[in-house]
Amino acid sequence: MKNVSIIVLVILVIILSVVLYLKNKKQVESTQYIRKSKKSRINRKSYQPWMPNICSKFYKDHHEVWGKLNVIERDICDETKDMYCSKIVEMWDSELSKHFKDEEINFFPSITDSDNKSFINDLLIEHKKILSLVKKIGTERKKLDVLHFCSLMKYHIMKEEILMTEIVPDTYKTRTPVKL
Ligand SMILES: [Fe+2]
Ligand SMILES: [Fe+2]
Repeated sequence: MKNVSIIVLVILVIILSVVLYLKNKKQVESTQYIRKSKKSRINRKSYQPWMPNICSKFYKDHHEVWGKLNVIERDICDETKDMYCSKIVEMWDSELSKHFKDEEINFFPSITDSDNKSFINDLLIEHKKILSLVKKIGTERKKLDVLHFCSLMKYHIMKEEILMTEIVPDTYKTRTPVKL
């Protein structure tokens, strides 16, 4: 009987320790998150005098593309689907591919450090996802993929602008209507 009581007590102590450990771990993780979210994502040492110019160019591209995405999301239907699939492939060939390359070669490497590495890596993964979606749209021509492309592009743009606003404010705040 005494042995059983000791075993029960030991089990209770183990359970209590695990509960306390998990509670503490959660608190530590949430504190780290708060600290991280308050922290700037770009190290001041990474700043280069040419960065505001390239960011302004990216803002301009983003706003033009954003306007086109709005038009596609608003007007896509079974009748217009094929036209918008072609427009997206054209958009990739004529502007997006250059924009992505510019970010990948001239911007991201210059601002990457150990703190923002995973954030920038996610942006690079999104570039790959967007490209494969464009290829899929070009061959399969599905409305759902077009809508997915629009939302992924918008999400990606918003994430990039989190970084860019640390370098220069958005000078293209007023979105002008675009023709597609
Ligand atoms: Fe990008
Ligand atoms: Fe971009």
